[in-house]
Amino acid sequence: MPWAKKIHVMQGSSEYFDLYWEEGNLLNGEPALPPSGVGRLSEITLPQWLDNYLFKIRSSSYRPDPRKFSLNLDNDLEDQLIYLGTYFPRSFAESYCVFDNLLRHSFFERLLRYKDKLRIYSLGCGCGGEVVGALQAMRDRAQYSGKIEVTGVDGNESALEIFAQVLQRMGKRQSLSLSVDTKLQIMDDTWQGLDAAPDSGYDLIICSKLINELYATSAMQGSLYLRLAQGLGHALAPEGVLYLADVSNAISLNGRQVYVPVLLNYELQQLSDQDDLVTISPWCCRAGSAHCTGQNCYTQLRVRAHHSQNRDILSKFCYRLLCRSEIAERVRPPVRYLRCNALINESALERDLTGCCPSRVFDPEHKTVDAFNLV
Ligand SMILES: C[S@@+](CC[C@H](N)C(=O)[O-])C[C@H]1O[C@@H](n2cnc3c(N)ncnc32)[C@H](O)[C@@H]1O
Repeated sequence: MPWAKKIHVMQGSSEYFDLYWEEGNLLNGEPALPPSGVGRLSEITLPQWLDNYLFKIRSSSYRPDPRKFSLNLDNDLEDQLIYLGTYFPRSFAESYCVFDNLLRHSFFERLLRYKDKLRIYSLGCGCGGEVVGALQAMRDRAQYSGKIEVTGVDGNESALEIFAQVLQRMGKRQSLSLSVDTKLQIMDDTWQGLDAAPDSGYDLIICSKLINELYATSAMQGSLYLRLAQGLGHALAPEGVLYLADVSNAISLNGRQVYVPVLLNYELQQLSDQDDLVTISPWCCRAGSAHCTGQNCYTQLRVRAHHSQNRDILSKFCYRLLCRSEIAERVRPPVRYLRCNALINESALERDLTGCCPSRVFDPEHKTVDAFNLV
């Protein structure tokens, strides 16, 4: 194996990892792409109650307009109904697939099964696709039937109204004991909410597709993913999970085009031990900056949503699931020996083989392992 070096790293008394690193730029053979979504869900059809609610009861419409809906703070009710029919199902599908995957892990599945109350906080919640997706996955995969308290924060009043209504509808149609609280809040540099969360003890904190808008409008300055993770991390319950997700687009930042997934990755690699927040998914990002050699690296997950107004919507996004180190210890990566090409971007891998983690360490067989799959 002339192109790679190998060391043994002891971990505890019995387990060891073989670590390899690349010496030349020769990749001996192509990593095989695992079949999409094997072992994890990568597509979802909207449940009937939600399809009815969006397209019949709310008469929302499917009308993609990426330019207009790149910024959503000033949406009026008419815009919200287009958002509801077009982008809500994407956020639903993304978070459904992420949480379905999380709950396939026996630790989280059991954790949820024995809980009698769940507290959820969503920042920049909009109409709530990401919260509804997470709750639906909890109900479907773990049959969660305890109490649920949801707090949604956003700067748009009509979005918050829809947020409360769709969750109330979900509570009724899915027989969930669900209470909803909303807070109208414009976030700018005078707002302390990112740095000091208003409350604590949340089992799930979500921030889906807000930060790119804060950056793009210069509403807030400086390391927002990092500040958000640090600030809201304090509000997590000891066993809580933080879900940060964002779009897979470029935004203009200080006159430069910046790819949002790169920015998210770069900032979150700077979390330190004191922050006590560990990435559990995608698990190739778990090691943090000390071990990460990735430059301009990013992860991107693809999921598909199906509903009555469009049979096949492809959504590409980036995300992290983080939790406290004590919990992360219980959810170790599914590969025993860290000798893999960790897949981080299916579409890139299909094109030019750059879809694996650049900190990858090579397996002699060049086995490609899905970094989004927790089990
Ligand atoms: C793309 S939507 C995301 C909605 C939802 N979280 C999702 O994933 O579908 C972004 C949300 O951020 C909110 N937002 C953007 N800038 C904001 C600001 N400065 N203060 C408060 N909310 C803001 C918008 O009102 C909008 O609801």
